[in-house]
Amino acid sequence: MNNSVQDVLVSILADGEYYSGEYLGERLGISRAAVWKQIKKISEDKNLNIESLKGKGYRLAQALNLLSAEQIKSHFPQYEGVIEILDTIDSTNTYLNKLVAKQALDSGYIVLAEQQLAGRGRRGKAWFSPQYSNVYMSLFWRFSAGLSALEGLSLVVGISVIEALHELFAIPLKLKWPNDILYQNKKLGGILLELGGDPNGECHVIIGIGINANIQDGTETGIDQPWTSLRHLQGRLLDRNLVVAAVLKRLLINLPLFEANGFAAFAEQWACYDAFYDRDVVLHVGDKMEFGVAKGVNAQGYIQLQTVNGLQLHNSGEVSLRLK
Ligand code: BTN
Repeated sequence: MNNSVQDVLVSILADGEYYSGEYLGERLGISRAAVWKQIKKISEDKNLNIESLKGKGYRLAQALNLLSAEQIKSHFPQYEGVIEILDTIDSTNTYLNKLVAKQALDSGYIVLAEQQLAGRGRRGKAWFSPQYSNVYMSLFWRFSAGLSALEGLSLVVGISVIEALHELFAIPLKLKWPNDILYQNKKLGGILLELGGDPNGECHVIIGIGINANIQDGTETGIDQPWTSLRHLQGRLLDRNLVVAAVLKRLLINLPLFEANGFAAFAEQWACYDAFYDRDVVLHVGDKMEFGVAKGVNAQGYIQLQTVNGLQLHNSGEVSLRLK
């Protein structure tokens, strides 16, 4: 987050406590009247509900948990990369794609945003990305063995997110092939990988991860499938910095392992999280549909379907439970 007056004000008010106009003015080096103007502007620009009470000052009607590179690093001191935190952006993946085109980045470069105005999901869908509530992160990673060596990578990212969340919360999570994070068939998170570089050599991946963290029940989202959030499952406001640090930690362990050993080293683990194993499913591939019984994934991370024509393998598509 850059340090505009508005951002500093939001960060002071984030804890939901009252702060007097005088105190805020001193912290910001502006008059009390200017504080009032800024508060009014924030309420409008950022759609935040700020209450004012005579003799007490201003407070946010709802406390916020803000992203902080310092806090992420305090939870993961071994991390030496760059963490860029943006206030509002179209999409962290798009931002990172543009950055890569302009400058050389090291593996581990991370971009996070408080809000995405055009968050992108898989298969051209939008990713609902309201401000101050969820995790929107994109991680840059270099690989040297060409794009064909990346088969199964997206499944490994899904495993990493689940491992991180299991480390923090006692919530049994599952994966829907290839990498949707589910809690009881409700979507908690999703992953969007974008590949670039030389298909036969030095290439890179932008790993976009969205996790429904603090979004509240009843929020008008337009999401076209059942969803849930960590806040709903835990019943409290969560520290997103802790979540980001845990996910980053796992990825920094698993990505080098994947690079050295491929997906085969993770196949057993993926099977433990498989949401649809042995269930009747339909796989949509383009405008075609394949019906069958889900039989997990092979050593490359392809989904295996037992069909009337035998075992079929697919490396793309959208799988859903078949309703009877
Ligand atoms: C999905 O459809 O399940 C994938 C969702 C991926 C969303 C994340 S949020 C951070 C990054 N930036 C984006 O625009 N998309 C990904």
